[in-house]
Amino acid sequence: MDSKDLILRKIVTCATVCLLGIAAITTHGQTAAARTNGPSERDWWKNAVIYEVYPRSFQDTNGDGVGDLNGITKRLDYLQELGVDALWLTPCYPSPQVDFGYDISDYENIDPQYGTIADFDRLVAEAKKRHIRVIMDMVMNHSSDQHEWFLQSRSSRDNPYRDWYVWHDGKGETSTDRGAPPNNWQSEFGHSAWQWDEKTRQYYYHKFYIQQPDLNWDNPKVHRAFKDIIDFWLKRGVAGFRFDAITTLFEDPSLADEGVVKDKNGNPLIDAFGEQVLDGSKTALVAKIHPVMQEMRAEADTFNMDAFPGERVLIAEIYTSSIAELATMYGPPGKPEFQLPMDTQVGIIDKLDIAAFRAKLTDAETGLGSNVPLLLFDNHDNPRLDVRYGDGVHDTDIQRVIATVLFASRGVALLYYGDEIGMKTTPPKRREDVKDPVGIAGWPKEKGRDGERTPMQWDWSANAGFTAGMPWLLVPPSAATINVKAEESDPNSLLAWYKALIRLKKTNRALEDGANIMLDTGNTKVLSWMRAVAGAPQVVVSVNFTAQPQTVNLMNGEVGKETRKLKTLLKTPGAADSPSLDQIQLEPFGVYVGEVH
Ligand code: NOJ
Repeated sequence: MDSKDLILRKIVTCATVCLLGIAAITTHGQTAAARTNGPSERDWWKNAVIYEVYPRSFQDTNGDGVGDLNGITKRLDYLQELGVDALWLTPCYPSPQVDFGYDISDYENIDPQYGTIADFDRLVAEAKKRHIRVIMDMVMNHSSDQHEWFLQSRSSRDNPYRDWYVWHDGKGETSTDRGAPPNNWQSEFGHSAWQWDEKTRQYYYHKFYIQQPDLNWDNPKVHRAFKDIIDFWLKRGVAGFRFDAITTLFEDPSLADEGVVKDKNGNPLIDAFGEQVLDGSKTALVAKIHPVMQEMRAEADTFNMDAFPGERVLIAEIYTSSIAELATMYGPPGKPEFQLPMDTQVGIIDKLDIAAFRAKLTDAETGLGSNVPLLLFDNHDNPRLDVRYGDGVHDTDIQRVIATVLFASRGVALLYYGDEIGMKTTPPKRREDVKDPVGIAGWPKEKGRDGERTPMQWDWSANAGFTAGMPWLLVPPSAATINVKAEESDPNSLLAWYKALIRLKKTNRALEDGANIMLDTGNTKVLSWMRAVAGAPQVVVSVNFTAQPQTVNLMNGEVGKETRKLKTLLKTPGAADSPSLDQIQLEPFGVYVGEVH
């Protein structure tokens, strides 16, 4: 029997058992009866809601048009009211801002554009008062080319920092000719990943922009340097790190060319920059990152400060469609790595494809052992929910659907700033307005990531309450109606829906950490699942994936003739109230959440 069969078997068994109401449900290697009431302080992250803040775009307080740390502090009450447990801040370290902070020139300070280290300490302290933790971004794959390490490294071939980066001779190089780049490897942001350095007459490798040289992870000094950086921030009370581009730390030392990806007709796929798409097989050696991550986790685990109790949590940026590969990111027994590698499997499904959602949510429940999944749908690198799931008519309703999948599934939920009010992806209309270099280089095919990084829409004033100055990216016209102020006073707003869902996730026993069991699995219109934990009523969730009204029957023969009553916990306005399990009525893209009694 292969693992897929095993997964299916577990689901079928579980669905029957749960609906029959048998008390001790086995979930994730522990009996539900053994669970405690909500996570302990140490395990604060296990049912957490994490909110990604893009500091540049969240709230400006000094009128320079760029968001800052004091702006985040100013909005902590809002974030507490929303119900978030932790903020993940994208990089706010000193940086030339070529990649808006992902090119770091000093890992132990704050970029003056965003404030000072004192502002950072105040943010952490004020957040703590509101039971909110702060998670930093940790970029270990590369630094800025303006970092002192790289300035040293490129200064001469015998500089002690030379082997902190990845340097190679050109192919066919002579004393007068640089030769060709060492191989065909390409930057994620277009063209060759090798940059010629005239002074020392070698090429350096950069997986991302030319200004982001890759660090050499075969050098133990690089490991030590990052452990010190992690310590620096942990001592300031940060609750963990999101590890950027972690799968690309290592490259194949043989420097072999990567394979070319072909389309279904056997022709090479071409990217927005006119280059052949490569398979990443030599520049993403995932197997090699495990010992590094075990080292980083051991470092983080040494921290136990009375002032900031609770485990430090390591989050991985990883895009994989393989649940087996995702499972390895948690680390082997006794050698933990990430507590929360991102499960982008559900989030990278780019349409409301019910079968794909069901399959990937089932994977998250059954394929990760006793580990906790981290679900998300978008971030600062990907278009927002409107573009990926909207139909242009029911966009807000569809965003309720996505939010329900995010918060009513078991695990940690990660949302991106502005999702809670339904902010729209708003790419620049003209090349001259583009700020993301990848959008300038790739225009018009690749417009870059500005569209998902526009200023947070706080109110309907000229700059949406984001800045008193000129915003670094234009405020979308949709801010006139899509904004926090308007939605706070509307009980039927998307924001109200987010708050209600998060409250339920935190207060309902089954929704806190009950097993996630797919129901009515043949249904092609409505996605339904159950959350079940011993000692508390089961909760069913039904989500209409279509623009037509639907009625679902969750009995489907599994519990014989007995009809169970439902107590409504949350529903969209058109869903019927207090129905029974065999008749849940939903309006187009409607949602029903109810307890089984
Ligand atoms: C992933 C980050 O999310 C993205 O914004 C950045 O450009 C690359 N890593 C390089 O650091």
